[in-house]
Amino acid sequence: MNSEPAFFETPPQTVAVGQPLSRVDGRAKVTGAAKYSAEFNHLPGLVHAVIKTSDVAKGRVTGFDSSAAQREPGVLAIFTHQNLPKPVLTGETKEGKEAIGPSIQMTFMPLQSDQVFYAGQPVAIVVADTLEHAQHAAAKLRVTVTPEAPVASYQDAKAQLFNPGGKPDADAEGTKRRGKAAAAFAAAPAQVTATYTHATNHHNPMEPSATIAHWEAADRLTVYDATQGVSWQQRALSGFLGLPMEQVRVITKYLGGGFGCKGPIWPHSVLTALTAKAVGRPVKLVLTRPQMFTSVGHREDQEQTLRLGATKEGKLLALLHEKTSTTSQWDDYAETNSKFMGMLYQCPNFEAITKLAKANVMTPTWMRAPGEAPGSFALESSLDDLAYQLGIDPIQIRLLNHADKDPSTGQPWSSKSLKQCYQRGAALFGWSKRNPKNGLTRDGKYLVGWGMATATYPVNNSQGNARVRLYADGHAVVQVAATDLGTGTYTVITQVAADCLGIAPDKVRFELGDSVLPTTNISGGSMGAGTFSSSVYTASQDLWQKLTKMAVVDAKSPLFKAKPTEVEVVKGRLQLKANPGKGEDFAALMKRGNLTDLEGFGQGHYGAGYESAQARPAANSKSDDAGKEDHSGHAMHSFGAHFCEVRVDPELGTVRVTKWVSVVAGGRILNPKTARSQVIGGATMGIGAALMEQAVRDPHLARYTNPNLADYHVPVNADIPDMTVEFIDEHDPYINALGVKGIGEIAIVGTAAAVGNAIFHATGRRLRDLPITPDKVL
Ligand code: MOS
Repeated sequence: MNSEPAFFETPPQTVAVGQPLSRVDGRAKVTGAAKYSAEFNHLPGLVHAVIKTSDVAKGRVTGFDSSAAQREPGVLAIFTHQNLPKPVLTGETKEGKEAIGPSIQMTFMPLQSDQVFYAGQPVAIVVADTLEHAQHAAAKLRVTVTPEAPVASYQDAKAQLFNPGGKPDADAEGTKRRGKAAAAFAAAPAQVTATYTHATNHHNPMEPSATIAHWEAADRLTVYDATQGVSWQQRALSGFLGLPMEQVRVITKYLGGGFGCKGPIWPHSVLTALTAKAVGRPVKLVLTRPQMFTSVGHREDQEQTLRLGATKEGKLLALLHEKTSTTSQWDDYAETNSKFMGMLYQCPNFEAITKLAKANVMTPTWMRAPGEAPGSFALESSLDDLAYQLGIDPIQIRLLNHADKDPSTGQPWSSKSLKQCYQRGAALFGWSKRNPKNGLTRDGKYLVGWGMATATYPVNNSQGNARVRLYADGHAVVQVAATDLGTGTYTVITQVAADCLGIAPDKVRFELGDSVLPTTNISGGSMGAGTFSSSVYTASQDLWQKLTKMAVVDAKSPLFKAKPTEVEVVKGRLQLKANPGKGEDFAALMKRGNLTDLEGFGQGHYGAGYESAQARPAANSKSDDAGKEDHSGHAMHSFGAHFCEVRVDPELGTVRVTKWVSVVAGGRILNPKTARSQVIGGATMGIGAALMEQAVRDPHLARYTNPNLADYHVPVNADIPDMTVEFIDEHDPYINALGVKGIGEIAIVGTAAAVGNAIFHATGRRLRDLPITPDKVL
């Protein structure tokens, strides 16, 4: 009658895991030894490509004048839609989209026709012997685009809104509606209706996207690419170029950030490969900072209207969400703000609608916590409004609506420590000293305000492979085709491998960033640590099984004639479960067997796939009625809470964040140092979205007016206080072998709302248009 699935494998003893190990790649990074994708300059005959883009957002290419450009020294080729070789698949067909798989986001491939659909669209590529020659020739190249009137955003296309997938009133990913939301809202004694707007945001990683394409033979391509997923990029390039996957190799040893924009494949990587093939030389293309605004997606400009209905006591009765946003001419991508809204709070009536408008922009894409980040600004701000309206403390109203099960599926949570996050965050912040009335706290001329918000991010189902190679001398090489965005993958997986193999972290070399290594998922969707750790664990189990089988038939082993199931491995020692004194170290066993090294290979799961794989054998091995147990699974999410203090200058309208506390429950924390840095980074990006970040598209020209880091403001050190970050100790047996939940994106969720709520507390003004710049505060 055990209702818990019996998990048949135990996690490794944690020695290195949980330690604040400094980055194993830190030295390589600060000494310049770390090679980023654009730095593989050793390739013989490497030449440089520069993309020429259209300033016009809509129109047709009606003329080229390349005579001056052709005369420039060092120019090897100038490609336009007239002479660039075609990819095998363009991505535009449904067939192509399926073949290319999950890594395609924008189905439009530029340089296939004379049509221009967005400003920044490539209209020519110049290849030359040096970057400077290519840039100079590109400047001399004349491309005439005859303009037509573009659509700049959903605000210009409100008459032509459509529902993604063509389903009337469906939201983007089929969020389940429940109850009768409109009627429940109409009847609710307390109501909040509000509309929120969010500027277009760009990811702006420090390292721009870059591709070096090297055809090692007519049908064998190696690409050094700034991508969050070498296996995905390999699959996509193989689809576009019509090559077997095995003949495409993608290498990404280091990344200088990505935040989602390096998740999918984008046209520039394909175009570089086509160009390299045509000139018969390795070609390097590095996007300029302005091109980063028009080549790799963005968070779309959007408007959300949220209606909350509640009892007088503050219990939610109805939640209705409507989102309208801008997308491209070809794709119906919209980040799914409503998905988490259906699960975060107990609320019997829920519905969500997504509407899109096609404009002359490129396709938006995932940007750190796509959906949850802007969606939580709306939900967590409106909940704050409801709290003030009813005179309830903001934490209390959240506790009052705490969901003990996932309201969108009815599933129990695999683990949920949200209440502890509120409690610990409040204590660290000193929340009990808050004046419940707004506009009353001053520090000199500054208005001081405190705000808080809930954070959540799903455990997205994921899987991938790993290989471990253990040497008898006590060293190991561990391989996964993972990528490290800069967030610490090298380090945390080194720690995991060390514990799985029972050796010290400095004896482990973790290799990643190469598609010849075991295939895995992207570093995205906060799936990386959970997936890679799980696969390294499984590969290690494979290795230990091989060694156990060796030991039990080795007459010289203390484990001779034991049953393999009677053997356990503790810190690299194989021993009898019933008599741990009887056993031996792996090195002794391997040396006796003349093995210099041995490999294990395995597939690991993260999320729902892990749970179902574990539950199945458990059900079979239990008593008869175990088969009747409900193995429909758990809802899996990380949770957290943010607390923010602002000082608002009432004369200048400036907002400074002066205190910050984030408490996150993300399962087992592999490394508190790198984890803390991830939360600081995510919260900083959220503060950027709250107060600074906006890509401004000219409403007439549909062209970005500020595509650079001087005019597109992101927070710098001086904008961010010393942040307090803590983690709740949380054990979750359902998500993967180590109980690791993702923490890559949760810190940006709820962040803008915490800032906005603090501004409301300081000033009494509710600002719903991001970013909250001084002009809006005044
Ligand atoms: Mo993240 S937006 O899933 O790379």
